Amino acid sequence: MSTSPAALDYVRELVYRRAGIVLGADKYYLIEARLSTLARELNFPTVEEVIKGARSGGSGALNQKIVEALTTNETTFFRDLHPFDALRDHVIPALLAARSPAHPIRIWSAACSTGQEAYSIAMLLREHFPGLPNGRVKIFGTDLAESVVARARAGRFRQLEINRGLPAALLVKYFVRDGAEWTLDASIRSMVEFKPSNLVAPTEPFPHADIVLLRNVLIYFDEETRSAVLRRVRTALAPDGYLFLGCAETTTRVQDVFEHVHIGNTTCHRPRPSARGQ
Ligand SMILES: C[S@@+](CC[C@H](N)C(=O)[O-])C[C@H]1O[C@@H](n2cnc3c(N)ncnc32)[C@H](O)[C@@H]1O
Repeated sequence: MSTSPAALDYVRELVYRRAGIVLGADKYYLIEARLSTLARELNFPTVEEVIKGARSGGSGALNQKIVEALTTNETTFFRDLHPFDALRDHVIPALLAARSPAHPIRIWSAACSTGQEAYSIAMLLREHFPGLPNGRVKIFGTDLAESVVARARAGRFRQLEINRGLPAALLVKYFVRDGAEWTLDASIRSMVEFKPSNLVAPTEPFPHADIVLLRNVLIYFDEETRSAVLRRVRTALAPDGYLFLGCAETTTRVQDVFEHVHIGNTTCHRPRPSARGQ
């Protein structure tokens, strides 16, 4: 490792301050590896020079690129499967029954990465609720990293991404091969609106939603940030709404506002009746 600890500590502090992501001192190797790639892309001779460039200020664009390089964007179509079964069999039918057609059901894929989660829901709706009029369900996807939001919007996926979780029948029905990639049909892409948004330092209120999927992102935060984000999500969630977290994530520290319920083979979290209307 050739980069100075002081420079690497600057990155750890920057990523924590901007994104809430905790990188322990044992993650020096990760910072070095990710920023080596960035240095090559941006034609910097070394990682130290990238960090020096970021520290000397300017537009802040380089700081943002550093933060984005340190995010982990791992995702798949229909990840963990059970939450999608719960959406199909229970949650969406319950909300359709509870909301008049004048009130669209709003689904927010928070920390959506390259969009597989949001598009999985769009395909699920198309497959299992074929009669739904346009606009009856709205899907939003947000992520801190502008680069992954741009990829999500494009709806283009590499073979490796297609191989992860996408049933063959849906590939055939909704994707067209384009060179080394696959492009998702415009009719599915148009069901999702993507934009950048930071869960830790939002510049505008979170989108109001009936269903929030906030999966596999809280694991990167410390306890304080996790609780603050969950409390903010609670205020954006409908009183009878549903929150889905990743398998390793819980609402343990915010049990005063969320209770967990089992639906099929999954657990989801709902605003506590006592906290509703707060
Ligand atoms: C491991 S991926 C999870 C993707 C998807 N939710 C899933 O479960 O498959 C984590 C995502 O969280 C995003 N992220 C990290 N910190 C964030 C923050 N403060 N605000 C919004 N998104 C963030 C990253 O950019 C990354 O795309």
